[in-house]
Amino acid sequence: MLNASLSLSPAFVVSPVRPRTFGSFVEHLGRCVYTGLHDPGHPTADEDGFRQDVIEAVRELGVTTVRYPGGNFVSGYRWEDGIGPVEQRPARLDLAWHSTEPNTVGVDEFVRWCRKADVEPMMAVNLGTRGVQESLDILEYCNVPSGTAWSDLRREHGSEQPHGIRMWCLGNEMDGPWQIGHKTAEEYGRLAAETARAMRMIDPDLELVACGSSGSAMPTFGEWERVVLTESYEHVDYISAHAYYHEEDGDLASFLASAMNMDAFIDDVVATADAVRAARKLTKRIHISFDEWNVWYIGAAPSEAPKDSWPVAPALLEDHYNVADAVVVGNLLISLLRHSDRVHAASLAQLVNVIAPIMTEPGGRLWRQTTFHPFALTARHAVGEVLEVKLSTPSHETAKFGDTPLLDAVATHDPDSGDVAVFVVNRSLTDDATLDVDLRAFGDLRVAEALTLANPDPYARATVDDDTALAPTANATATVDGGAASVVLPPVSWTMVRLTPA
Ligand code: AHR
Repeated sequence: MLNASLSLSPAFVVSPVRPRTFGSFVEHLGRCVYTGLHDPGHPTADEDGFRQDVIEAVRELGVTTVRYPGGNFVSGYRWEDGIGPVEQRPARLDLAWHSTEPNTVGVDEFVRWCRKADVEPMMAVNLGTRGVQESLDILEYCNVPSGTAWSDLRREHGSEQPHGIRMWCLGNEMDGPWQIGHKTAEEYGRLAAETARAMRMIDPDLELVACGSSGSAMPTFGEWERVVLTESYEHVDYISAHAYYHEEDGDLASFLASAMNMDAFIDDVVATADAVRAARKLTKRIHISFDEWNVWYIGAAPSEAPKDSWPVAPALLEDHYNVADAVVVGNLLISLLRHSDRVHAASLAQLVNVIAPIMTEPGGRLWRQTTFHPFALTARHAVGEVLEVKLSTPSHETAKFGDTPLLDAVATHDPDSGDVAVFVVNRSLTDDATLDVDLRAFGDLRVAEALTLANPDPYARATVDDDTALAPTANATATVDGGAASVVLPPVSWTMVRLTPA
């Protein structure tokens, strides 16, 4: 048995919990849009062809924002193809995913879906094959109330009110050689600055995201952020970060510690942004939009794009997650929350079918992957303020990170209700851990709920036939006694303990 302790106080606040931490991502990729969100023949499809069972699951997941329409897809996308009468829309080659894009769903349908799912849309513009003018055109179409060519066209297409989209990504992963229209940092930084400056002439209140690195392992990481922000600092609000993790070479211990990489990545981006701020003698701070993160078995068979054909909505990137993957997802959320002072938005990539917590059968059943649960529970119960935690934990050696803490945790406190929520992972492969939590600073609390996601087999996976067996279950070891809480955490587990005034 391992022993660890956590000390909490309502006085030590990192920042408010930011609702946009619980964003997600819908790309025209594989079956995310078609047969995921949109499946007109499905028994639950509404008048727009949207699956109601998916919308209900999205609400249950607690998603707040959804980034759209890509991803790599956006860098070859002509947004005008997706507006107007559906039967007149062209089919196009999607070079990013070697597919055919039928354009049945476009920006108007997506915004309608967002309203139904009660999420905020977050748009990306194409800075791969396109530039300033096309970004202005889609902004005018979406956000100008009326009286111009594009805005009146939107009204003709049935959206009388402007879409009012606040958050816009200036391209996608422009540092990546795989990206259509890939650019150097200087080229992209100038384009991002000029696009942002022009977009703000239409709408000064936009929140604009410049592309950061598509991973901390990119050879240009760091220098990319420095150059892009040097060019664009005054014009943008966020720099993006993307990170995907998976177990490699059977090294589960390193994989479970993936949040250490995310922590370091965030710290490095913050340091670089602040260095540009100092060098440019500016006052505002740039925040991070961590707008792609997840476990992704990149390079494995489900991620191989078709080679000899251009199918519509092929099954692509349909990773099937296990218990360990869910523990990592829970831990990555712990990392994002503890950095809420600088990470102001994040998007779990992606939402449905494509490396997703929600899976659908075309015309058939919906099921939840293991990764659904830590996301849904954190989104629902991380309320109020993120607290600084003092965690004392044993460690072990991992191949990737050296000396690695075995436990990782974050906590939130809701000053209105007095509720405290602790989110914690045990990364040990073999040992239970007892976590003692010092809660004396909060007055009398009792355990409202304690849930743990774990399984003797960390590789166990939910299935379409049974997606509940691996859901978190009540952890009966959680107790509070005179300002001290205690809970036992099984190996390879994610746990949430909610405490409420007694
Ligand atoms: O989410 C899948 C892909 O990962 C996105 O299209 C791209 O932005 C990233 O490389």
